This record gives sequence, structure tokens and C-alpha cells, in this order.
Amino acid sequence: MNLTGKKILLGVTGSIAAYKAAHLTRLLIKSGAEVQIIMSTSAFDFITPLTLATLSKRPVLSQFKKDETGEWNNHVELGLWADLFLVAPLSANTLAKFALGICDNLLAAVYLSARCPVMVAPAMDLDMYQHPAVQSNLNLLEGFGHEVLHAESGELASGLSGQGRMMEPEHILGYVQSFFKGNDDFKGKKVLITMGPTVEALDPVRFISNHSSGKMGMAIAEEFSKRGAEVFVVSGPIALKVSKEKFHWNSVTSADEMYGLAAVLHPKVDICIFTAAVADYAPAQIAPEKIKKDSALISISLRKNVDIALELGKMKRVNQIHVGFALETENEAANAKAKLRKKNFDLIVLNSAKVEGAGFKVDTNQVELFGADGRSVHSELASKTTIAALILDQIKTIPVWV
Ligand code: PMT
Repeated sequence: MNLTGKKILLGVTGSIAAYKAAHLTRLLIKSGAEVQIIMSTSAFDFITPLTLATLSKRPVLSQFKKDETGEWNNHVELGLWADLFLVAPLSANTLAKFALGICDNLLAAVYLSARCPVMVAPAMDLDMYQHPAVQSNLNLLEGFGHEVLHAESGELASGLSGQGRMMEPEHILGYVQSFFKGNDDFKGKKVLITMGPTVEALDPVRFISNHSSGKMGMAIAEEFSKRGAEVFVVSGPIALKVSKEKFHWNSVTSADEMYGLAAVLHPKVDICIFTAAVADYAPAQIAPEKIKKDSALISISLRKNVDIALELGKMKRVNQIHVGFALETENEAANAKAKLRKKNFDLIVLNSAKVEGAGFKVDTNQVELFGADGRSVHSELASKTTIAALILDQIKTIPVWV
């Protein structure tokens, strides 16, 4: 989406991820936005104001006073000028100031006086990110109605690996674009989304499951919510930090539980999206006690789980839309198209377990969409947010859409 005419205040704080603010600025400017950068002084240790001023084509602000003449940077005017206040990266220190209303620098003053929506992309080391103080401050910001672009997982500057990396600039751009798109094209629609893995108990301490993180399902849920839909989620166990308040959220464990809830919600909704990686089989019996490890070889009998999409597909109303996913490793298109027909989907989203950056756990995906109407749409590798927007745009052109 073109951002021409959109005014963005970009706050940059003291974090190693501040170097990514240069790339983010370029992406925003290339998309047509006007970008005014405000840096905290500790951000100077990580990137120079000159770099960001050159890329944003505007002087960077950081102090209340412009110079010794007494002229000042009016934080109220800045806050009123912007259509969006984006802070990326947001350090733990500035996060705490925002959460508590501490106002000891220009950035914090502009934050407190801004009337526009606020989006923040935190970045810090993984233990800092998980600290209850940081998590509680992030929750406070969400409670203020701000959009938190949760940190991504990967290698961190400390050498540790985990959640804490600032969201990649391309992904942030996706959020900014869908914020400005902000249309209500799904207003009045009710949507059911299954997501995450299912977990099938073997004994009181062990289970069978898979690698689904719930990221694809969450991206779709967020996109529907942003575009006005009422979203019902039935999620298997996931470790994602999500704002559940926006959704009718139901947590389940096994495929049977997921089916039970989905079947109750199905008659109420207009659209169903089956992103869950449902375990196809479950142990035929759950051992009442922890299975002993006396034998060198044991066998476990498995029973087939209910196929949720297949069963609900049999009950699909004429004006209801069902979208399935297929995760394949071979004969991908043929298998996906067979599932499209068998499960009575209107659209199936094929993602390959073999493409790097696609499928389980990652923040990106690359998909092919096949429609019951014969359509075939290819996507490049993109953030799951961008893929979610593509899926919603395709749903709108399904013939039963009313
Ligand atoms: O959660 P992430 O880490 O972001 O990963 C996303 C994902 C890879 C899990 C997702 O994009 C995906 O591909 N989900 C479907 C995976 C899958 O189970 O595919 P399948 O080919 O086995 O199933 C086909 C369809 O039937 C799916 O829509 C599935 O939800 C549904 N199904 C399958 C089995 C079953 N018992 N019940 C079902 O409803």
C-alpha cells in the first residue's frame, strides 16, 4: 500500500536494534510517507542523527530546545501533526517511561501529548523481554490501546537466542500499511479460526504433537479483527504473547476438544479458517500412570482423530466460506487440491514444509492459493501479516461472498 500523505513520527530509542531504524525509515519514505524522527539521546550511541536525518529528509529532533536562542521543539504540535506515532526500537527504559507517564525527554513528552494511534516495536535481550516488569509494562501499553509489535525470535546481540529481536522493518511496514488501510471490509462478519497444534496425551507427562506456533493463525485473526470482523479463536496450546481481549478466545488441548468447540461455534459464523495443525492420530489409550522405561522397544497404538475441517465441511451452509491450509512435503499442489475437494473448502492455502522461511514457527510464509472456482494465486516469501492480508483479499472475491 502506498503511504503518500501519511505523517509518521518515528521514535528511536537506545537499543542495538536502532541500526534497523535506518532501513525502516527508507522503507517508509519509499512507500511515500512523511517521516519525522525523534531520538532519545541514548539512541545516539547506536546510530547517528545524521544518518536518520539524511534518510528521512528532515532534521532529527531529540531536545526540547532547538538551540541557545530559546526556540523549542513543540511537543504538542508534533503530537498533533502525526497520523501515527511509531516507536522502533522501543527500549525497556523508554517502555517503562511510557507505562508510568514519566516525562524527562522530548520523546516521552511527545508520547504523552500525541493524539494519534501509537505502535511500538520493543527490542531487548531475551531475559529482559521475559521479565515480569517488562511484560507488565507491555500489557499496560496494550491496555492504553497501543499496538505492540511483539519482538521476534532469533539470534540476539548478546549471543543468546530467543524472543527479543525487534520485528524486522519489512514486517513493521506491513503493520503500518494495514493500519492505514484500516478498512472495515469485514465489518458484520463472524469468523472462526482454528490455530496452533493439538496435543494428544500419552500418559500424565508425555504427549504427541507438532511444531505449530500459532503465528499464521494469529496473523489471520489480527487481520480480520483490524478489518472489522468479530473473531472466534479455538487455539491449541501456543506460547505466543497475544492480546486475547480483541477475540472470543478459546484454549483447547486435544483434537477432540478443538472439534467440540469448533462444532458449537460453526453455525454462528460466516467464515471458517482452519490453520490448526491438528494431530491426525492420538494414542488409543492414555496410560493412567507414567509409562515405565523397562523395555527396549515399546509400541503405541494410535487411533485416528476426528478431521475437524472434513466434518464441518459436511455441514457448510451455501453462503458460508471455508478456507483450509495444507502443509505438504511432496506432490504439493496435487495433494492440496485433493484436500480442497475432499474437505469442501472454497480456498486452500498451500505452504511447503520444505521452503526455507515458510510453514511452522517462522514469522514468514510463502504460499500458493487454490480455489474451488479454479483460481491459483502464488505469493512470494513475505511476513505472515502480509500473507494474512492476501488471504483476506482473496476471500472477498469468492463468489458466495455477500
Ligand atoms: O502455527 P505456525 O507455526 O505459524 O505454522 C503454520 C502452519 C504451518 C501450521 C499452517 O500454515 C498450516 O499449514 N496449517 C495446516 C497444517 C495441517 O495440518 O495441514 P493438513 O494438510 O494436515 O490438513 C489440511 C487441513 O485440514 C488444515 O486446514 C487442517 O487445519 C485441517 N485438519 C486436518 C486434520 C484434522 N484432523 N482436522 C483438521 O481440521
